[in-house]
Amino acid sequence: MISTWLIIFSAVAAYLLACRYFRFKRLRDLQRDWIDRDGSFKIRSVEDARIILEVSNLYESTFMWETSIELALFRTYGIPTISKVLVSTGQLSQPESAGKRAEDTGLLLQEALYNPWDTERSRTAISRINYLHSRYGKRITNDDMLYTLSLFILEPMRWLEMYEWRPLSDVEKYAQLTLWTALGQRMGITGIPNNLKDLEKFSVDYEENPKIRAGNGDPAIVCTFGRQTAELHAFSHAFSMDGMVRTVCLKVSSQISPVFLLTQTEQSPPYFSEKNPTGRYHKLKSNFQPFYARSSVYNRLYFGLLGFDLKEEKWMTEGYKIEELGPNKLKDAGHEQVSRGAQIMFKCPFVLPSRGLSPR
Ligand code: HEM
Repeated sequence: MISTWLIIFSAVAAYLLACRYFRFKRLRDLQRDWIDRDGSFKIRSVEDARIILEVSNLYESTFMWETSIELALFRTYGIPTISKVLVSTGQLSQPESAGKRAEDTGLLLQEALYNPWDTERSRTAISRINYLHSRYGKRITNDDMLYTLSLFILEPMRWLEMYEWRPLSDVEKYAQLTLWTALGQRMGITGIPNNLKDLEKFSVDYEENPKIRAGNGDPAIVCTFGRQTAELHAFSHAFSMDGMVRTVCLKVSSQISPVFLLTQTEQSPPYFSEKNPTGRYHKLKSNFQPFYARSSVYNRLYFGLLGFDLKEEKWMTEGYKIEELGPNKLKDAGHEQVSRGAQIMFKCPFVLPSRGLSPR
C-alpha cells in the first residue's frame, strides 16, 4: 500500500518538476543567449530584437499579446484628435469595411514585424502603412502617432504583467522597445523616448492632458467597430462572461498553468504564407473574418462551420499583395509610391535605436 502511494507521489513530483523545467526553458534560453555575464544585453541590431520578440509573442504569450494590441487600438480612440480622423474614414463604423480593416491592420503589422527586418516584405508593409497615413497629411500629428506607438509597446507589457503566466523579462522589454522604436522611426515618428520610463510618462501625461482630452472627436462611433467585429466572431457570445468573473478566471489560469502544464503553447501557426504561383500571399490565421484564406477543403469546412462561405468573392481567396492592403478603394492606388518608399528604407542605413537605450 505504502509503495503504491510512494509511486504516485513520486510520479506527481516528477511531473511537477518537469513542468517547472520545461515551462521556463525558453525564458532561460533567452537569458543565456541575450544577456552578458555583466548583465548587459547582447542585442546588437534591430533583427536581434525582432528574434526575441518572436519568441515572446509567438511562443510564450500569443493570445494575450494579440489581445492587448487590439485593446491598445481601442485605447487610442479615447483621444479626440485620433478618433476624429478615424471616424472621417468611415472604415471602422461600417459593418462592410470594419472586419476587413481589422484584418488588414493586423496583417500589415505582422508583415512588418514577423518578417526578418530589412527584407523587402517587411519594408513594403511599413511603406504601405506610410502611404495610407500620408493621405491624411497633417491631420495625423506626430504626438498622436507617438502616443499610439507608446501603447503598442506598453499595453502588452501591462496586460502580461496583470494576467499572463509570467511577465516579460527585462531583456524582452528592451527588445520590444528597440523593435517598435525602429518601426516608429521608419514611420517618420520623431521624439521617441529612449527608455520605458520616459515613454510611460509621455503616454500617461498625454492621456491626462486636459487640452488633449478637450477635443470633440467621437470615440463612441469608432468603438462600434469593437461590437461589430465581436459579433462577427461566432464563438464570442457563447463565452462572454461578466467582467469580474473573467478577471478571476484569467488570474487563476495564469497562476495554475505554469505549475501544471508542461510548456506554453507550441509555436503559434505562422500568420501568412510564402508567395503562391500567382505572386500573392495567403493569410494562415484569421482574427475576425477569413479574408485572403486559401480556398482549401479544410478551410471551406472550417469557415463554413463558423458561418462564412469562402466561395464569396469578398474574401479574396486568391490572396493578397502587400501593396494592395488597406481600404478596397485604394487597392490599386499608391503602388509606385509604396515601392519607392520601401527602396529608400533599404538604402538608408538604419541607425540602431538600441544605442543609448536603457530598459527602465
Ligand atoms: C504607431 C502608430 C500607428 C501605426 C503602427 C498605425 C498602423 C496603421 C495600419 C497598419 C493601417 C492600415 C489599416 C488598413 O487600412 O487596413 C493604418 C491606417 C490608418 N491609420 Fe494608422 N497607425 C498608427 C497611428 C495612427 C494615428 C495616430 C492615426 C490618426 C490620428 C492613424 C490613422 C490612420 C488612418 C486614417 C488610416 C487609413 C485608413 C483609411 O485610409 O481608410 N494611424 N494605420
